[in-house]
Amino acid sequence: MSSESGDKKLFNLAARADADRARMREHLMRGAIELQGMVPWSSNYTYLVSVKYADHEISAIYKPQCGERPLWDFEDGTLCKREVAAYALSAFLGFPNIPVTVLRADAPQGLGMVQEFIEHKRRENFFTLRARQRGAMQAIAVFDALVNNTDRKGGHVLVDAQDIVWAIDHGVTFHQEPKLRTVIWDFIDEPIPSELCAALTALRDALKRGEPIRAELEQLLARAEIRALNARLNALLQTRLYPAPPDGWPHIPWPPV
Ligand SMILES: Nc1ncnc2c1ncn2[C@@H]1O[C@H](COP(=O)(O)OP(=O)(O)O)[C@@H](O)[C@H]1O
Ligand SMILES: [Mg+2]
Repeated sequence: MSSESGDKKLFNLAARADADRARMREHLMRGAIELQGMVPWSSNYTYLVSVKYADHEISAIYKPQCGERPLWDFEDGTLCKREVAAYALSAFLGFPNIPVTVLRADAPQGLGMVQEFIEHKRRENFFTLRARQRGAMQAIAVFDALVNNTDRKGGHVLVDAQDIVWAIDHGVTFHQEPKLRTVIWDFIDEPIPSELCAALTALRDALKRGEPIRAELEQLLARAEIRALNARLNALLQTRLYPAPPDGWPHIPWPPV
């Protein structure tokens, strides 16, 4: 996506240089992880951890594969990989803001995803933010349609002290069947902003040409899921409209926050 500051403002994207992301990635990949405690109310085993690297300590979220609650529709042990795939896609597109997320095989409870912790305003969520953060929600809504997010709760939208909006919890994404379930149905049948479409077009080209993002996704997702991702991408680029809820599918998560 164009990195013009206009777009960044419109969709409230973190003004974060690639070099900063790379540094955070390195920190999360190489740092020493220590469990600090479990995050209350999480549906899977979700830990708050500290990650120390080069004498610098940060907080992170750690979701081990062994703590994933089995689901009827997603293959066991794949949620942590889906979180990393969602991050990779967001980093390619330039939207939405997803905290840097990596896969670690050597974490305290084994393989899992490790994601930078975002200090956020605890009382805010999608419902309190939607009116004044419309652009950020437009970006998240396109992304959710693309990745087929089946659990966009209000609380999976955070805002930090700088009023940057962050999207979290992408474990149940990329299923090959339509499963979009979200609280963000504000834009049904509205045109997807052209800046966001431009990023989708760039993604389609990159996947077609076999750029690194394709290999990255292939390591994390099943082949049929990548085919379905391509199909959703083409459909979005064909209509250039926000989708309506799928038929016969509970399209609003419970609880909504
Ligand atoms: N990267 C993050 N930064 C800050 N808080 C987070 C982050 N990821 C998760 N949390 C907090 O932990 C809670 C549970 O995380 P979530 O990703 O929803 O886990 P689960 O997969 O168990 O639903 C979130 O509602 C949020 O309060
Ligand atoms: Mg959650």
